[in-house]
Amino acid sequence: MSNPIPSSILIVGAGVFGLGTAYALAQREEYKNTKITVLDRSGFPAPDSSSIDSSRIIRADYADYYYSALCTESLKEWRGEWGQDGRYHETGLAILMDGKNLDRGGKTAMQQEMQRNLQKQGLKAGKKEDGGQITVLENEDDVKAIAPSIPGAAGQSGYVNWTSGWADAEAGMRYLLKKVEATGRVELRTAEVKSLIFDHANGSVPGVELVSGERLMADLTILAAGAWSPKFIDLRGRASASGQILAYIDITAEEEEKLKNNPVLLNYSNGMFIIPPRHKQLKVARHGYGYANFQTIPHPEHPESGNTIKVSLPKTKYDDPYMEIPKEGQDVCRAFLKECLPDFANRPWTHTRICWYTDTPTGDWIIDYHPKYKGLFLATGGSGHGYKFVPKIGERIVDVIKGQPRDDLGTALQKKWAWPEQKYHFDHVWTNDWRGGSKGMILAEEHSRGPKPRAKL
Ligand SMILES: Cc1cc2nc3c(=O)[nH]c(=O)nc-3n(C[C@H](O)[C@H](O)[C@H](O)COP(=O)(O)OP(=O)(O)OC[C@H]3O[C@@H](n4cnc5c(N)ncnc54)[C@H](O)[C@@H]3O)c2cc1C
Ligand SMILES: *[C@@H]1O[C@H](CO)[C@@H](O)[C@H](O)[C@H]1NC(C)=O
Ligand SMILES: *[C@@H]1O[C@H](CO)[C@@H](O)[C@H](O)[C@H]1NC(C)=O
Ligand SMILES: *[C@@H]1O[C@H](CO)[C@@H](O)[C@H](O)[C@H]1NC(C)=O
Repeated sequence: MSNPIPSSILIVGAGVFGLGTAYALAQREEYKNTKITVLDRSGFPAPDSSSIDSSRIIRADYADYYYSALCTESLKEWRGEWGQDGRYHETGLAILMDGKNLDRGGKTAMQQEMQRNLQKQGLKAGKKEDGGQITVLENEDDVKAIAPSIPGAAGQSGYVNWTSGWADAEAGMRYLLKKVEATGRVELRTAEVKSLIFDHANGSVPGVELVSGERLMADLTILAAGAWSPKFIDLRGRASASGQILAYIDITAEEEEKLKNNPVLLNYSNGMFIIPPRHKQLKVARHGYGYANFQTIPHPEHPESGNTIKVSLPKTKYDDPYMEIPKEGQDVCRAFLKECLPDFANRPWTHTRICWYTDTPTGDWIIDYHPKYKGLFLATGGSGHGYKFVPKIGERIVDVIKGQPRDDLGTALQKKWAWPEQKYHFDHVWTNDWRGGSKGMILAEEHSRGPKPRAKL
Protein backbone atom coordinates (compact mmCIF):
# COMPACT_ATOMS: atom_id res chain seq x y z
CA MET A 1 0.00 0.00 0.00
CA SER A 2 1.43 3.37 -0.93
CA ASN A 3 0.28 6.85 -0.03
CA PRO A 4 -2.18 8.55 -2.43
CA ILE A 5 -0.73 10.83 -5.10
CA PRO A 6 -1.37 14.51 -4.30
CA SER A 7 -2.74 16.68 -7.10
CA SER A 8 -0.46 19.54 -6.06
CA ILE A 9 2.85 19.72 -4.16
CA LEU A 10 4.40 22.91 -2.84
CA ILE A 11 8.07 22.76 -1.83
CA VAL A 12 9.50 25.49 0.41
CA GLY A 13 13.25 25.86 -0.26
CA ALA A 14 15.36 25.20 -3.37
CA GLY A 15 18.44 23.66 -1.75
CA VAL A 16 19.71 20.08 -1.98
CA PHE A 17 16.64 18.71 -0.21
CA GLY A 18 13.92 20.81 -1.88
CA LEU A 19 15.21 20.93 -5.44
CA GLY A 20 16.39 17.33 -5.24
CA THR A 21 12.87 16.27 -4.28
CA ALA A 22 11.32 18.33 -7.07
CA TYR A 23 13.59 16.65 -9.61
CA ALA A 24 12.76 13.16 -8.44
CA LEU A 25 9.02 13.91 -8.41
CA ALA A 26 9.19 15.30 -11.94
CA GLN A 27 10.87 12.09 -13.12
CA ARG A 28 8.15 9.78 -11.88
CA GLU A 29 5.31 8.51 -13.95
CA GLU A 30 2.94 8.39 -10.93
CA TYR A 31 3.27 12.13 -10.39
CA LYS A 32 2.76 13.15 -14.01
CA ASN A 33 -0.49 14.93 -13.23
CA THR A 34 0.76 16.53 -10.01
CA LYS A 35 1.41 20.26 -10.09
CA ILE A 36 4.88 20.80 -8.59
CA THR A 37 5.94 24.25 -7.33
CA VAL A 38 9.22 25.19 -5.62
CA LEU A 39 9.42 28.45 -3.67
CA ASP A 40 12.61 30.13 -2.54
CA ARG A 41 13.01 33.57 -1.06
CA SER A 42 16.17 34.16 -3.13
CA GLY A 43 16.52 33.85 -6.84
CA PHE A 44 18.78 30.93 -7.78
CA PRO A 45 21.45 30.51 -6.50
CA ALA A 46 20.52 31.59 -2.97
CA PRO A 47 23.87 33.01 -1.80
CA ASP A 48 23.24 32.30 1.88
CA SER A 49 21.78 28.81 1.55
CA SER A 50 23.90 25.93 2.75
CA SER A 51 23.80 24.21 -0.65
CA ILE A 52 25.55 27.08 -2.42
CA ASP A 53 29.29 27.54 -1.88
CA SER A 54 32.61 27.08 -3.62
CA SER A 55 33.03 23.52 -2.40
CA ARG A 56 31.75 20.62 -0.34
CA ILE A 57 33.61 17.47 0.75
CA ILE A 58 32.50 14.20 -0.85
CA ARG A 59 33.47 11.29 1.40
CA ALA A 60 32.03 7.84 2.04
CA ASP A 61 33.87 6.92 5.21
CA TYR A 62 30.83 7.10 7.46
CA ALA A 63 30.81 4.95 10.54
CA ASP A 64 27.11 4.51 9.80
CA TYR A 65 26.53 1.72 7.30
CA TYR A 66 23.43 3.25 5.71
CA TYR A 67 24.78 6.74 4.97
CA SER A 68 27.90 5.05 3.71
CA ALA A 69 25.84 2.90 1.34
CA LEU A 70 23.88 5.91 0.13
CA CYS A 71 27.12 7.78 -0.42
CA THR A 72 28.56 4.92 -2.42
CA GLU A 73 25.54 5.25 -4.75
CA SER A 74 26.08 9.00 -4.98
CA LEU A 75 29.81 8.63 -5.61
CA LYS A 76 29.05 6.56 -8.71
CA GLU A 77 27.13 9.57 -10.03
CA TRP A 78 29.85 12.05 -9.06
CA ARG A 79 32.38 9.91 -10.92
CA GLY A 80 30.09 9.94 -13.94
CA GLU A 81 27.97 12.63 -15.51
CA TRP A 82 27.41 14.61 -12.29
CA GLY A 83 31.11 15.19 -11.80
CA GLN A 84 31.86 16.41 -15.34
CA ASP A 85 33.00 19.96 -16.19
CA GLY A 86 34.86 20.39 -12.93
CA ARG A 87 31.93 19.60 -10.65
CA TYR A 88 33.79 16.80 -8.84
CA HIS A 89 37.50 16.45 -8.10
CA GLU A 90 38.70 13.16 -6.68
CA THR A 91 41.84 14.49 -5.05
CA GLY A 92 41.52 12.59 -1.78
CA LEU A 93 40.66 13.46 1.79
CA ALA A 94 43.39 13.52 4.43
CA ILE A 95 42.15 13.01 7.97
CA LEU A 96 44.83 14.32 10.31
CA MET A 97 45.22 13.88 14.03
CA ASP A 98 47.57 15.19 16.65
CA GLY A 99 49.90 12.97 18.68
CA LYS A 100 47.59 12.92 21.68
CA ASN A 101 45.35 10.36 20.07
CA LEU A 102 48.17 7.86 19.74
CA ASP A 103 47.64 4.82 21.89
CA ARG A 104 50.41 2.55 23.15
CA GLY A 105 50.51 0.51 20.00
CA GLY A 106 51.45 3.67 18.15
CA LYS A 107 48.25 3.70 16.12
CA THR A 108 45.20 5.77 16.74
CA ALA A 109 41.91 4.08 17.43
CA MET A 110 40.69 5.64 14.25
CA GLN A 111 43.48 4.13 12.20
CA GLN A 112 42.67 0.74 13.61
CA GLU A 113 39.05 1.13 12.65
CA MET A 114 40.16 2.31 9.26
CA GLN A 115 42.41 -0.76 8.84
CA ARG A 116 39.47 -3.00 9.65
CA ASN A 117 37.29 -1.15 7.12
CA LEU A 118 40.02 -1.42 4.58
CA GLN A 119 40.07 -5.19 4.77
CA LYS A 120 36.29 -5.34 4.50
CA GLN A 121 36.15 -3.05 1.51
CA GLY A 122 39.07 -4.43 -0.43
CA LEU A 123 40.66 -1.03 -0.98
CA LYS A 124 44.39 -1.05 -1.63
CA ALA A 125 46.64 0.42 1.04
CA GLY A 126 49.86 2.18 0.12
CA LYS A 127 51.30 5.32 -1.36
CA LYS A 128 49.28 7.05 -4.04
CA GLU A 129 52.16 6.74 -6.55
CA ASP A 130 52.00 2.98 -6.05
CA GLY A 131 48.30 2.82 -6.75
CA GLY A 132 47.27 2.90 -3.08
CA GLN A 133 43.73 4.03 -2.38
CA ILE A 134 44.35 4.53 1.31
CA THR A 135 47.62 5.91 2.64
CA VAL A 136 48.23 5.47 6.34
CA LEU A 137 50.10 8.33 7.98
CA GLU A 138 52.20 7.09 10.86
CA ASN A 139 54.19 10.21 11.64
CA GLU A 140 54.75 13.85 10.80
CA ASP A 141 56.97 13.04 7.83
CA ASP A 142 54.23 10.88 6.33
CA VAL A 143 51.85 13.81 6.71
CA LYS A 144 54.24 16.22 5.03
CA ALA A 145 54.78 13.77 2.21
CA ILE A 146 51.09 13.67 1.20
CA ALA A 147 51.66 16.40 -1.33
CA PRO A 148 54.71 18.52 -2.09
CA SER A 149 52.67 21.71 -1.94
CA ILE A 150 51.68 21.15 1.70
CA PRO A 151 54.95 22.13 3.35
CA GLY A 152 53.56 22.50 6.87
CA ALA A 153 50.82 19.92 7.17
CA ALA A 154 51.01 19.55 10.90
CA GLY A 155 49.43 16.54 12.52
CA GLN A 156 51.29 13.42 13.53
CA SER A 157 49.05 10.70 12.20
CA GLY A 158 45.96 9.87 10.22
CA TYR A 159 45.23 8.61 6.75
CA VAL A 160 44.32 9.74 3.27
CA ASN A 161 41.41 8.24 1.41
CA TRP A 162 42.24 8.86 -2.24
CA THR A 163 38.77 7.72 -3.33
CA SER A 164 37.16 10.82 -1.78
CA GLY A 165 37.26 14.38 -2.99
CA TRP A 166 35.31 17.59 -3.26
CA ALA A 167 32.53 19.03 -5.36
CA ASP A 168 31.98 22.54 -6.65
CA ALA A 169 28.78 23.00 -4.67
CA GLU A 170 27.29 25.83 -6.67
CA ALA A 171 28.09 24.15 -9.99
CA GLY A 172 26.43 20.95 -8.74
CA MET A 173 23.28 22.85 -7.82
CA ARG A 174 23.26 24.63 -11.21
CA TYR A 175 23.49 21.24 -12.86
CA LEU A 176 20.55 19.99 -10.80
CA LEU A 177 18.56 23.11 -11.70
CA LYS A 178 19.24 22.50 -15.39
CA LYS A 179 17.93 18.96 -15.02
CA VAL A 180 14.84 20.22 -13.20
CA GLU A 181 14.16 22.82 -15.88
CA ALA A 182 14.62 20.24 -18.63
CA THR A 183 11.70 18.21 -17.24
CA GLY A 184 9.40 21.17 -17.91
CA ARG A 185 7.36 19.93 -14.96
CA VAL A 186 8.36 22.24 -12.12
CA GLU A 187 7.38 25.82 -11.49
CA LEU A 188 10.17 27.70 -9.67
CA ARG A 189 9.09 30.88 -7.99
CA THR A 190 11.06 33.49 -6.08
CA ALA A 191 8.79 34.21 -3.13
CA GLU A 192 9.33 34.46 0.61
CA VAL A 193 7.10 32.30 2.78
CA LYS A 194 5.82 34.09 5.86
CA SER A 195 4.26 31.07 7.51
CA LEU A 196 2.63 27.75 6.94
CA ILE A 197 -1.15 27.86 7.15
CA PHE A 198 -2.44 25.73 10.02
CA ASP A 199 -6.00 24.46 10.02
CA HIS A 200 -6.36 23.32 13.63
CA ALA A 201 -10.00 22.33 13.09
CA ASN A 202 -8.96 19.28 11.09
CA GLY A 203 -5.25 19.19 11.97
CA SER A 204 -3.84 20.02 8.58
CA VAL A 205 -1.48 22.34 6.72
CA PRO A 206 -3.35 23.25 3.55
CA GLY A 207 -0.63 25.57 2.17
CA VAL A 208 1.54 28.60 2.88
CA GLU A 209 1.16 32.32 3.24
CA LEU A 210 3.73 34.51 1.50
CA VAL A 211 5.19 37.72 2.91
CA SER A 212 3.25 39.50 0.14
CA GLY A 213 0.04 38.22 1.75
CA GLU A 214 -0.71 35.81 -1.10
CA ARG A 215 -1.85 32.35 -0.01
CA LEU A 216 -0.80 29.28 -1.96
CA MET A 217 -2.74 26.07 -1.32
CA ALA A 218 -1.55 22.52 -2.01
CA ASP A 219 -2.47 18.93 -1.20
CA LEU A 220 1.04 18.44 0.13
CA THR A 221 3.47 21.07 1.47
CA ILE A 222 7.11 20.03 1.83
CA LEU A 223 9.16 22.08 4.26
CA ALA A 224 12.76 22.05 2.98
CA ALA A 225 13.88 25.45 4.23
CA GLY A 226 17.20 24.20 5.64
CA ALA A 227 18.30 26.01 8.78
CA TRP A 228 15.29 28.31 8.52
CA SER A 229 12.89 25.39 9.00
CA PRO A 230 12.55 25.97 12.80
CA LYS A 231 10.87 29.27 11.97
CA PHE A 232 7.91 27.47 10.41
CA ILE A 233 7.17 24.65 12.83
CA ASP A 234 8.14 23.90 16.39
CA LEU A 235 11.39 21.91 16.11
CA ARG A 236 12.71 22.65 19.62
CA GLY A 237 14.94 19.79 20.77
CA ARG A 238 14.73 18.21 17.30
CA ALA A 239 16.56 20.55 14.93
CA SER A 240 18.16 23.97 15.10
CA ALA A 241 20.48 26.26 13.18
CA SER A 242 24.19 26.28 14.05
CA GLY A 243 26.48 28.82 12.38
CA GLN A 244 29.70 27.49 10.85
CA ILE A 245 32.68 29.58 9.81
CA LEU A 246 34.09 29.92 6.31
CA ALA A 247 36.98 32.19 5.29
CA TYR A 248 38.29 32.71 1.76
CA ILE A 249 41.50 34.17 0.39
CA ASP A 250 42.30 35.19 -3.16
CA ILE A 251 45.24 33.43 -4.73
CA THR A 252 46.87 33.64 -8.16
CA ALA A 253 46.34 31.24 -11.06
CA GLU A 254 49.87 29.87 -10.49
CA GLU A 255 49.13 29.24 -6.83
CA GLU A 256 45.89 27.52 -7.73
CA GLU A 257 47.75 25.31 -10.16
CA LYS A 258 50.07 24.21 -7.34
CA LEU A 259 47.33 23.51 -4.81
CA LYS A 260 44.53 22.14 -6.95
CA ASN A 261 45.54 18.49 -6.79
CA ASN A 262 46.01 18.43 -3.03
CA PRO A 263 43.70 16.32 -0.95
CA VAL A 264 41.20 18.04 1.30
CA LEU A 265 42.98 18.49 4.66
CA LEU A 266 40.86 17.85 7.71
CA ASN A 267 42.04 18.01 11.30
CA TYR A 268 39.98 15.40 13.10
CA SER A 269 41.01 16.86 16.46
CA ASN A 270 39.57 20.35 15.97
CA GLY A 271 37.27 20.10 12.93
CA MET A 272 39.29 22.54 10.79
CA PHE A 273 39.56 21.86 7.07
CA ILE A 274 40.98 23.29 3.85
CA ILE A 275 39.50 22.39 0.48
CA PRO A 276 41.63 22.88 -2.67
CA PRO A 277 40.93 26.20 -4.39
CA ARG A 278 38.32 26.95 -6.99
CA HIS A 279 38.21 30.09 -9.20
CA LYS A 280 41.37 31.38 -7.51
CA GLN A 281 39.91 31.24 -4.02
CA LEU A 282 41.14 29.10 -1.19
CA LYS A 283 38.71 28.20 1.59
CA VAL A 284 39.36 27.45 5.27
CA ALA A 285 36.48 26.26 7.44
CA ARG A 286 35.51 24.42 10.61
CA HIS A 287 33.09 21.56 11.22
CA GLY A 288 32.14 22.73 14.70
CA TYR A 289 29.41 22.89 17.30
CA GLY A 290 28.81 26.25 15.69
CA TYR A 291 27.26 29.43 16.97
CA ALA A 292 23.69 29.62 18.19
CA ASN A 293 21.69 32.69 17.19
CA PHE A 294 18.71 32.73 19.52
CA GLN A 295 15.61 34.58 18.46
CA THR A 296 12.29 34.91 20.20
CA ILE A 297 9.55 34.41 17.65
CA PRO A 298 5.77 33.92 17.73
CA HIS A 299 4.91 30.25 18.15
CA PRO A 300 4.85 29.19 14.49
CA GLU A 301 1.93 26.80 14.91
CA HIS A 302 -0.14 29.19 17.04
CA PRO A 303 0.78 32.73 16.01
CA GLU A 304 -2.62 34.04 17.12
CA SER A 305 -2.08 32.83 20.71
CA GLY A 306 0.52 35.47 21.58
CA ASN A 307 2.88 32.70 22.78
CA THR A 308 6.50 32.88 21.77
CA ILE A 309 9.33 30.38 21.47
CA LYS A 310 13.10 30.85 21.57
CA VAL A 311 14.99 29.16 18.74
CA SER A 312 18.31 29.47 16.95
CA LEU A 313 17.86 30.73 13.40
CA PRO A 314 20.36 31.76 10.71
CA LYS A 315 21.82 35.24 10.56
CA THR A 316 23.42 35.84 7.18
CA LYS A 317 24.47 38.68 4.91
CA TYR A 318 20.83 38.82 3.88
CA ASP A 319 20.14 40.16 7.40
CA ASP A 320 23.39 42.11 7.78
CA PRO A 321 25.42 42.71 4.61
CA TYR A 322 28.50 43.72 6.63
CA MET A 323 28.62 40.71 8.91
CA GLU A 324 31.91 38.80 9.04
CA ILE A 325 32.81 35.76 11.14
CA PRO A 326 33.70 36.51 14.79
CA LYS A 327 37.31 37.06 15.83
CA GLU A 328 37.44 33.62 17.47
CA GLY A 329 36.67 32.06 14.09
CA GLN A 330 39.12 34.21 12.17
CA ASP A 331 41.87 33.27 14.61
CA VAL A 332 41.37 29.51 14.29
CA CYS A 333 41.28 29.75 10.48
CA ARG A 334 44.58 31.67 10.52
CA ALA A 335 46.14 29.16 12.90
CA PHE A 336 45.16 26.24 10.68
CA LEU A 337 46.53 27.94 7.57
CA LYS A 338 49.75 28.66 9.42
CA GLU A 339 50.17 24.96 10.19
CA CYS A 340 49.20 23.60 6.78
CA LEU A 341 49.89 26.30 4.19
CA PRO A 342 52.10 28.84 5.96
CA ASP A 343 52.73 30.83 2.76
CA PHE A 344 49.10 31.91 2.82
CA ALA A 345 48.69 32.51 6.53
CA ASN A 346 49.05 36.27 6.40
CA ARG A 347 46.89 36.99 3.37
CA PRO A 348 43.79 39.07 4.10
CA TRP A 349 40.44 37.33 3.84
CA THR A 350 38.68 38.23 0.60
CA HIS A 351 35.44 37.54 2.41
CA THR A 352 34.13 35.44 5.24
CA ARG A 353 30.76 33.84 5.75
CA ILE A 354 28.68 32.03 8.32
CA CYS A 355 26.93 29.06 6.78
CA TRP A 356 24.16 27.40 8.75
CA TYR A 357 23.79 23.69 9.50
CA THR A 358 20.35 22.34 10.40
CA ASP A 359 21.55 20.21 13.29
CA THR A 360 19.69 17.29 14.81
CA PRO A 361 20.78 15.45 18.00
CA THR A 362 21.94 12.33 16.14
CA GLY A 363 22.91 13.97 12.86
CA ASP A 364 20.13 12.01 11.15
CA TRP A 365 17.97 14.01 8.77
CA ILE A 366 14.24 14.48 9.28
CA ILE A 367 12.45 13.14 6.20
CA ASP A 368 8.90 12.35 7.22
CA TYR A 369 5.28 13.45 7.43
CA HIS A 370 4.64 15.72 10.38
CA PRO A 371 2.97 13.56 13.04
CA LYS A 372 0.33 16.18 13.81
CA TYR A 373 -0.56 17.97 10.58
CA LYS A 374 -1.96 16.26 7.52
CA GLY A 375 -0.54 17.58 4.27
CA LEU A 376 2.82 18.56 5.79
CA PHE A 377 6.04 16.72 5.01
CA LEU A 378 9.52 17.63 6.28
CA ALA A 379 12.76 17.29 4.33
CA THR A 380 15.38 18.92 6.51
CA GLY A 381 17.91 18.36 9.30
CA GLY A 382 20.94 18.00 6.98
CA SER A 383 23.29 18.35 9.98
CA GLY A 384 26.24 19.45 7.90
CA HIS A 385 26.56 16.35 5.74
CA GLY A 386 23.77 16.43 3.15
CA TYR A 387 25.43 17.88 0.10
CA LYS A 388 27.34 14.87 -1.16
CA PHE A 389 24.07 12.96 -1.62
CA VAL A 390 22.55 15.47 -4.05
CA PRO A 391 22.58 13.08 -7.05
CA LYS A 392 20.52 10.50 -5.13
CA ILE A 393 18.72 12.21 -2.27
CA GLY A 394 15.56 13.17 -4.16
CA GLU A 395 14.74 9.59 -5.14
CA ARG A 396 15.02 8.47 -1.55
CA ILE A 397 12.89 11.35 -0.27
CA VAL A 398 10.16 10.59 -2.80
CA ASP A 399 10.20 6.93 -1.71
CA VAL A 400 9.38 8.14 1.80
CA ILE A 401 6.67 10.49 0.50
CA LYS A 402 5.15 7.52 -1.31
CA GLY A 403 5.73 5.23 1.66
CA GLN A 404 7.32 2.73 -0.70
CA PRO A 405 11.00 2.00 -0.05
CA ARG A 406 12.68 0.51 -3.12
CA ASP A 407 15.06 -1.78 -1.17
CA ASP A 408 16.32 -2.74 2.29
CA LEU A 409 18.47 0.37 2.38
CA GLY A 410 15.35 2.47 1.77
CA THR A 411 13.49 0.71 4.58
CA ALA A 412 16.38 1.39 6.97
CA LEU A 413 16.73 5.00 5.89
CA GLN A 414 13.02 5.66 6.30
CA LYS A 415 13.31 4.47 9.90
CA LYS A 416 16.40 6.57 10.52
CA TRP A 417 14.79 9.69 9.06
CA ALA A 418 11.48 9.36 10.91
CA TRP A 419 10.17 12.26 12.99
CA PRO A 420 12.13 11.85 16.27
CA GLU A 421 9.79 10.91 19.11
CA GLN A 422 12.48 11.79 21.65
CA LYS A 423 13.51 15.40 22.08
CA TYR A 424 17.04 16.50 22.95
CA HIS A 425 17.42 17.64 26.56
CA PHE A 426 17.85 21.28 25.46
CA ASP A 427 15.68 23.25 23.07
CA HIS A 428 18.83 24.09 21.11
CA VAL A 429 20.64 21.11 19.63
CA TRP A 430 24.42 20.81 19.94
CA THR A 431 25.28 17.81 17.76
CA ASN A 432 28.10 15.57 19.04
CA ASP A 433 29.73 14.10 15.94
CA TRP A 434 33.41 14.96 16.40
CA ARG A 435 32.70 18.69 16.25
CA GLY A 436 35.46 21.22 16.73
CA GLY A 437 35.39 24.54 18.53
CA SER A 438 33.88 24.95 21.96
CA LYS A 439 30.31 24.03 22.73
CA GLY A 440 27.85 26.76 23.66
CA MET A 441 29.07 29.76 21.67
CA ILE A 442 26.47 32.46 21.03
CA LEU A 443 26.92 34.45 17.83
CA ALA A 444 26.16 37.89 19.29
CA GLU A 445 28.54 37.31 22.22
CA GLU A 446 31.35 36.19 19.95
CA HIS A 447 30.79 39.18 17.67
CA SER A 448 30.92 41.52 20.65
CA ARG A 449 34.39 40.21 21.57
CA GLY A 450 36.03 41.26 18.31
CA PRO A 451 36.38 44.56 16.50
CA LYS A 452 33.07 46.14 15.50
CA PRO A 453 32.03 45.24 11.97
CA ARG A 454 33.55 47.68 9.52
CA ALA A 455 32.72 48.39 5.95
CA LYS A 456 32.20 45.38 3.73
CA LEU A 457 35.50 43.58 3.08
C1 LIG B 1 29.63 25.46 6.03
C2 LIG B 1 29.00 24.18 5.57
C3 LIG B 1 29.80 23.15 5.15
C4 LIG B 1 29.24 21.94 4.74
N1 LIG B 1 30.07 20.96 4.29
C5 LIG B 1 29.55 19.84 3.77
C6 LIG B 1 30.40 18.88 3.18
O1 LIG B 1 31.62 19.07 3.15
N2 LIG B 1 29.84 17.77 2.65
C7 LIG B 1 28.50 17.56 2.66
O2 LIG B 1 28.04 16.54 2.17
N3 LIG B 1 27.66 18.46 3.22
C8 LIG B 1 28.16 19.60 3.76
N4 LIG B 1 27.33 20.54 4.31
C9 LIG B 1 25.90 20.25 4.45
C10 LIG B 1 25.08 20.51 3.23
O3 LIG B 1 25.53 21.66 2.58
C11 LIG B 1 23.61 20.62 3.68
O4 LIG B 1 23.24 19.44 4.37
C12 LIG B 1 22.65 20.82 2.52
O5 LIG B 1 23.11 21.82 1.63
C13 LIG B 1 21.29 21.19 3.09
O6 LIG B 1 20.40 21.58 2.08
P1 LIG B 1 18.97 22.14 2.42
O7 LIG B 1 18.19 22.01 1.18
O8 LIG B 1 18.44 21.51 3.65
O9 LIG B 1 19.18 23.66 2.87
P2 LIG B 1 19.53 24.99 2.03
O10 LIG B 1 20.45 24.71 0.91
O11 LIG B 1 19.95 26.02 3.01
O12 LIG B 1 18.14 25.39 1.39
C14 LIG B 1 17.11 26.03 2.10
C15 LIG B 1 16.48 27.07 1.21
O13 LIG B 1 15.34 27.61 1.88
C16 LIG B 1 15.20 28.95 1.47
N5 LIG B 1 14.37 29.68 2.41
C17 LIG B 1 14.66 30.04 3.68
N6 LIG B 1 13.64 30.75 4.21
C18 LIG B 1 12.69 30.84 3.25
C19 LIG B 1 11.40 31.46 3.20
N7 LIG B 1 10.91 32.14 4.23
N8 LIG B 1 10.68 31.35 2.06
C20 LIG B 1 11.18 30.67 1.00
N9 LIG B 1 12.39 30.08 0.99
C21 LIG B 1 13.13 30.16 2.11
C22 LIG B 1 16.65 29.46 1.44
O14 LIG B 1 16.77 30.62 0.61
C23 LIG B 1 17.40 28.25 0.91
O15 LIG B 1 17.62 28.33 -0.48
C24 LIG B 1 27.85 21.76 4.75
C25 LIG B 1 27.03 22.80 5.17
C26 LIG B 1 27.57 24.01 5.58
C27 LIG B 1 26.68 25.12 6.05
C1 LIG C 1 37.30 5.47 1.51
O1 LIG C 1 36.32 5.87 0.58
C2 LIG C 1 35.49 4.82 0.10
C3 LIG C 1 34.57 5.41 -0.96
O2 LIG C 1 35.27 5.84 -2.07
C4 LIG C 1 34.70 4.27 1.24
O3 LIG C 1 33.88 3.20 0.80
C5 LIG C 1 35.60 3.80 2.35
O4 LIG C 1 34.85 3.49 3.48
C6 LIG C 1 36.63 4.84 2.72
N1 LIG C 1 37.57 4.17 3.59
C7 LIG C 1 38.11 4.71 4.65
C8 LIG C 1 38.98 3.88 5.49
O5 LIG C 1 37.90 5.88 4.94
C1 LIG D 1 44.81 19.76 14.97
O1 LIG D 1 44.12 20.03 16.17
C2 LIG D 1 44.86 19.76 17.34
C3 LIG D 1 43.93 19.99 18.51
O2 LIG D 1 43.40 21.28 18.51
C4 LIG D 1 46.12 20.61 17.38
O3 LIG D 1 46.89 20.26 18.51
C5 LIG D 1 46.92 20.40 16.10
O4 LIG D 1 48.02 21.27 16.07
C6 LIG D 1 46.04 20.64 14.90
N1 LIG D 1 46.76 20.39 13.69
C7 LIG D 1 46.67 21.21 12.67
C8 LIG D 1 47.33 20.78 11.43
O5 LIG D 1 46.06 22.25 12.75
C1 LIG E 1 -9.21 20.72 6.26
O1 LIG E 1 -10.20 21.70 6.06
C2 LIG E 1 -9.95 22.61 4.97
C3 LIG E 1 -11.07 23.62 4.92
O2 LIG E 1 -11.17 24.31 6.12
C4 LIG E 1 -9.88 21.85 3.67
O3 LIG E 1 -9.53 22.74 2.62
C5 LIG E 1 -8.84 20.75 3.76
O4 LIG E 1 -8.90 19.95 2.61
C6 LIG E 1 -9.07 19.88 5.00
N1 LIG E 1 -7.92 18.99 5.08
C7 LIG E 1 -8.01 17.74 5.48
C8 LIG E 1 -6.72 16.99 5.46
O5 LIG E 1 -9.02 17.23 5.86
